[in-house]
Amino acid sequence: AHQWRGVIAEYREHLPFSDDDTLLTLGEGGTPLVHAPTLSKAVGAEVHVKVEGMNPTGSFKDRGMVSAMSRAVSDGAQKVVCASTGNTSASAAAYATRAGIGCVVLLPQGKIAAGKLAQAVVHGAQLVQVDGNFDDCLEIARKLDAQYPIELVNSVNPYRLQGQKTGAFEIADALGAAPDIHILPVGNAGNISAYWMGYQEYRAKGITSSVPQMWGFQAEGAAPFKAGRPISRPETIATAIRIGAPASWDLAVAARDDSGGLIDAVSDEQILDAQEILAGEVGIFVEPASAAGVAGLLQQAARGLVPAGATIAITVTGNGLKDIDTALSRRELTPVVVEADVNAAAEAMGL
Ligand code: F0G
Repeated sequence: AHQWRGVIAEYREHLPFSDDDTLLTLGEGGTPLVHAPTLSKAVGAEVHVKVEGMNPTGSFKDRGMVSAMSRAVSDGAQKVVCASTGNTSASAAAYATRAGIGCVVLLPQGKIAAGKLAQAVVHGAQLVQVDGNFDDCLEIARKLDAQYPIELVNSVNPYRLQGQKTGAFEIADALGAAPDIHILPVGNAGNISAYWMGYQEYRAKGITSSVPQMWGFQAEGAAPFKAGRPISRPETIATAIRIGAPASWDLAVAARDDSGGLIDAVSDEQILDAQEILAGEVGIFVEPASAAGVAGLLQQAARGLVPAGATIAITVTGNGLKDIDTALSRRELTPVVVEADVNAAAEAMGL
């Protein structure tokens, strides 16, 4: 049986590594592309969900992190740093541990889902909470990289996007063609840029004959692309994408415009509704930010803007188990208590 070897080994000919490099893997990538019949019916298209919460640390970040960390350790780095809303730090902590080097993570105070904090802690990263938001953290991380012997592994490090572009390869490989539309949540804008690069490379090499429209969705309270400029106080329940000054601004605008796509916004309410649809209809538990793409698709459908019969791929970026507090905040968690007896259990079940 074939064992998935991780994104670098699987897509080696498409990635900028040499035989001398130390190539890491935790088995990242190779995630399921799940057809979603109810969503497809709801929007009049064929919808496939790319389940990135299945990666080793539970988010798409592992694709880019294995690549950036392989570069860093090959170049002799002793320590890496990143700013993060939680997933990047979880991933950096895991891959730094695997590489045997130190890791410092800069986190916006009080706005990180508990599961992600736990990951950084258990993997032994040094946590620094900043009295500010993600954008403040990233600015500090960039300065640390410039002024101190520490390597930046945020997505401004080009090796991050190199690894992340493999998500597009996997989708094209699974479908046998590029989808008509690719949808994903947008925060710091690395992922939309990476997917666009991946789709373009596959077409340039003749592996596919087309590229999709790229549709990105931000949270309404953190929607700088809709505003057309960075915003200073981003706010959303989807803490992973609570970002006001995306680093990959120009690349994301190029992805949007060159693909004939769009970057729009959805409300927190729409995001939580989409999270419930993914959990309750599709069968996939994602964290709130990850549901922004589905929320956006439903919004476009309500506006009559989804082309009939289109093949649509949606990346759901992170695992729901990372942020159970938000998921449970909308639900009653009141299990019925019965005595240890089959008849009592059956009665409570209405059997
Ligand atoms: N979805 C999740 C679950 C994320 O964690 C992120 C980004 C995004 C979407 C947006 O992706 O930044 O490439 O546009 N999280 C970063 C972090 C910022 O620090 O973990 P993007």
